[in-house]
Amino acid sequence: MANELKGTVNYTVNGNIAILEVDNPPVNPLSSGVRAGLTDCIAKANNDDSIKGIILTGAGRSFIAGADISEFGQKPDGPDLHTALKEIEFSKKPVLAAINGTALGGGLETALVCNYRMGTNKAIVGLPEVNLGLLPGAGGTQRLPRLIGPSQALKMMIAGTPISAKKALQQGVIDAISENSLIEDGIAFLQDKITLSEHPKVRDKNEKLLEARGADNILAEAKALAAKTRRGQFAPGQIISCVEAAINEDDFDIGMKKESEYFLECLVHPQREAMIHIFFGERAASKISDIPKETPLHQINSAGVVGSGTMGGGIAMNFANAGIPVLILDQDEKNLSRGMGVIEKNYQMMVDRGRMSQDQKDTVMQIITPTLSYEDLADVDIVVEAVYENLELKQEIFKSLDTAVNDQAILASNTSGLDIDAIASSTNRPNKVVGTHFFSPANVMRLLEVVRGSKSSDETMATVMALGKKMGKASVVSLNAPGFIGNRMLYGYTYQANMLLLEGALPNQIDSALESFGMSMGPFRMMDLVGLDLGWRARKLGGIETPLTNKISDALCEQDRFGQKNSKGFYNYSEGSRAPNPAPENESIYKEVSEKNNIQRREISDQEIIDRCIFALVNEGAKILEEGVSQRAGDMDIVYINGYGFPIWRGGPMFYANQFGLGKVVEKINEFAELDKNFWKPAPMLEKLASDSGLFGEAPAPEDRAKKLGFTTGNMGGV
Ligand code: 3HC
Repeated sequence: MANELKGTVNYTVNGNIAILEVDNPPVNPLSSGVRAGLTDCIAKANNDDSIKGIILTGAGRSFIAGADISEFGQKPDGPDLHTALKEIEFSKKPVLAAINGTALGGGLETALVCNYRMGTNKAIVGLPEVNLGLLPGAGGTQRLPRLIGPSQALKMMIAGTPISAKKALQQGVIDAISENSLIEDGIAFLQDKITLSEHPKVRDKNEKLLEARGADNILAEAKALAAKTRRGQFAPGQIISCVEAAINEDDFDIGMKKESEYFLECLVHPQREAMIHIFFGERAASKISDIPKETPLHQINSAGVVGSGTMGGGIAMNFANAGIPVLILDQDEKNLSRGMGVIEKNYQMMVDRGRMSQDQKDTVMQIITPTLSYEDLADVDIVVEAVYENLELKQEIFKSLDTAVNDQAILASNTSGLDIDAIASSTNRPNKVVGTHFFSPANVMRLLEVVRGSKSSDETMATVMALGKKMGKASVVSLNAPGFIGNRMLYGYTYQANMLLLEGALPNQIDSALESFGMSMGPFRMMDLVGLDLGWRARKLGGIETPLTNKISDALCEQDRFGQKNSKGFYNYSEGSRAPNPAPENESIYKEVSEKNNIQRREISDQEIIDRCIFALVNEGAKILEEGVSQRAGDMDIVYINGYGFPIWRGGPMFYANQFGLGKVVEKINEFAELDKNFWKPAPMLEKLASDSGLFGEAPAPEDRAKKLGFTTGNMGGV
């Protein structure tokens, strides 16, 4: 029976101390075998008279990464977590949590039932359950406020961001930091305590809660924080209710009971399923299905960036933040010093906002070196080119890089849409060329589309994916195809938004409908932010006729309405503010353009707006999946959540469609086809899955795709 359970706890003895080591690689979640092991080992130590104290630690790099997320929604084997934690909390012998690495969620909650907590200086602790649509359900909402006060605890649980050992010590989450051997220091710590007749239990610490009773501002501030940072999410409100119970209930166990009830409500909530889909989806996206896990990586110890503009600067910051020294090259001295100035300003802003210390800023600035010479890039391990989108220019640069940089280095292009194979063909190392599509601002946005050229080698791909992880990016592979994944899907979404405007909806209605669906910014606010004049000027310059969907924005530009940059576009903006105000003066333009193009304006419901924009994304996503441009539907969800403001709690557009029902999506698309049969035609894969009651999942096997699309498996780029 014990062999069927997942994970274990190793039991060793050092003198009079029992050492319990959670062993469930790679990150020690509290799987069935760990819960059983904890229960058994605590009993064993308590039943052994020679044992006077217990140390609980983790094997490898993690202490405990929390509950086993893959077990949610399944019937648990072995003892439940509450039973296991009770054994620790009511142990007759004192228990010290020796936090050797990450203690997250249930991991920190396990540490909180121990009498004492010591961490290494590399330890990280936090309650990130909110990121999974959950609340800390193993006593975290009741114990953390007792330890550090409800206000701090709420901030930590709503943000879900872990903190360092140093900060944890300052706040009182842990009692000590070990600078040497954690176990030796832990034993010494316990030897000092074993003579005490009683050992502290967090559940008994009530002072900070009593102080907070009646202080309405604590909960009000938490609600405001949740509304601002976690719009539309269910779990934060539940966390606040749990802390409210902790503050107001005299009996710890009543608070615990409430926490369990609120936790269960989160567990069965659709947002939980969506957010856990994203947790595993992000990890799945980092793997390339036809590249073996063991593929050797090219070591990236230094880097170069070509172009010191906004993108180049942001990319250089990513390298520096990951601890990789980076040379930033520009051919123009003035540009280069301006670029370095922007980087310095961005870091300074982080220092001013408390997101970085002055020391950290100095460290990263020291490893960003400006240069005007390609020769300086000779020894770097990777170069990312980040100049403006012009194929000839990029080919020129790659030619120069190919000559100047050592043969082993990877050459990457930060392009949002150019053909990677065409860029690679200007070098003698096309196997080492890859696309890295960062999103702006590159130092902030998490998405990284890694574009696989037809000749990009396994080593190149695996190395760049590993680099993305080191930079903290959500990396997704795309084949080399027009628009890659994200921008190709975006086309249909924006097309529909513009058509809805022509058909009678106003920008404010469209934006509000999509923002209430959960999008972080409606399409017209976004267009105003980017600038309406970019496309208009390009069309004018190129003598290109305005497409139907741009007729209104071009008409606005003719009236000097360029967007936020001159305080008027689809909206009006007051001086120095980015808040959009409706622009009733535009309505006559909308009417005129609709009329000129024989479009009858009509009342349009918010639901129609949402369905048309979102199902345009989904239908294009189905084509992308069928062509194998994206490896899996979940990858597109990661793209949309991390690069395009799609709400995480809906799990991304493809997951949303799966939940909505693919049959119903097809029905909707057929309904819309009556309005516009040129645009609306269900993708064959969507129709097929819908008729089999299927779901979006993996792309077809490469061989099938190759047959269907008429290119060989060895040459999958250029779809
Ligand atoms: N349960 C199950 N599997 C987990 C897991 C968990 N809690 N945490 C990580 N894993 C798995 C990952 O899916 C991945 O599997 P794969 O190799 O098959 O893709 C593997 O462990 C390694 O994970 P990462 O690639 O993420 O490894 P990193 O070293 O980059 O990061 C980490 C390690 C910081 C621990 C990160 O994995 C993480 O943040 N994990 C989740 C932490 C978390 O959210 N804990 C709360 C869980 S909910 C809970 O505890 C409820 C409780 O309150 C009752």
